[in-house]
Amino acid sequence: MSEKPVVLVTRKLPEAVEARLARDYQAVLNAEDRLYTTEELLALADGADGILPCHTEHLSAEAIARLPDRVRVVANMSVGVDHVDLGAAKSRGIVVTNTPDVLSDATAEIAMLLLLGAARRASEGERLVRAREWRDWSPAFMVGTQVTGKRLGIVGMGRVGRVTARRGRGFDMTIHYHNRRPLPAEQEDGAVYHETLEDLLPQCDFLSLHCPATPDSRNLLNAERIALLPDGAIVVNTARGAIVDDEALIAALGSGKLAAAGLDVFNNEPDIHPGYRDLANTFLLPHIGSATRETRDAMGFRACDNLDAFFAGHEPGDRVA
Ligand code: DGY
Repeated sequence: MSEKPVVLVTRKLPEAVEARLARDYQAVLNAEDRLYTTEELLALADGADGILPCHTEHLSAEAIARLPDRVRVVANMSVGVDHVDLGAAKSRGIVVTNTPDVLSDATAEIAMLLLLGAARRASEGERLVRAREWRDWSPAFMVGTQVTGKRLGIVGMGRVGRVTARRGRGFDMTIHYHNRRPLPAEQEDGAVYHETLEDLLPQCDFLSLHCPATPDSRNLLNAERIALLPDGAIVVNTARGAIVDDEALIAALGSGKLAAAGLDVFNNEPDIHPGYRDLANTFLLPHIGSATRETRDAMGFRACDNLDAFFAGHEPGDRVA
């Protein structure tokens, strides 16, 4: 029997996923869950046939150019692949896959948590209680924005966007969206399509971002576009920080143009723009959209499925390059 392929696994994965990897591959695991530098990653990749990274490993064009020839597949445990230079991988003939679908429910849960938390001032309230500074109740105390019945605008009506729309309907929200193309009617489920972002933004009491980070979507939410949102709108981001111009968003939150923002993703994580921390009207989470036990298992198994297909000589289901 030929040797099992060597797979470099860059982060500590759920037990059941590591057990499957150890059974089917010569898996190089990261028991201590250390965040590797690019140099460490490249050194560990020496002798590997494939890599199973997360979004924390930045596989730039330079890094991909230095990967050993033996590495033929990068099976990401993430739906987002902005940490991998897909063009560089393609030109070296390295197959790249991701893990779509399996994290849509978990991420939409966090989108709703952010939406509700930002609207109802959850961070401020929680801090007050923990700091023993809650002294009184009055009709004017901690008044926020009601969610029920409002207009929810969704940018990127892919899998996560569509689940978020469904959850929004549970709060009697009217769904508006912008996407490259309108969805078929059965998927649209009454949502109103806007061909341009500029058409969508004035219709949004709440705006939730669900598009991938690409060179085209960098700083998509900039000062000009924020100005098109209704005064007092609320912005939610569970996609990627790169979609937002931080300075513009922070200025709009500071001026009161926007009532609040709920953010799970940031530019330059975890060293986020300090302006977000200084604002009372931000509800901030540390990139935990897909962080449930069920979803982590499912993401890991999906990455394994892609590896299995590749090493069996088949086209992996989730090939992105
Ligand atoms: C994803 O899958 O893209 C999540 O952001 C976690 O990496």
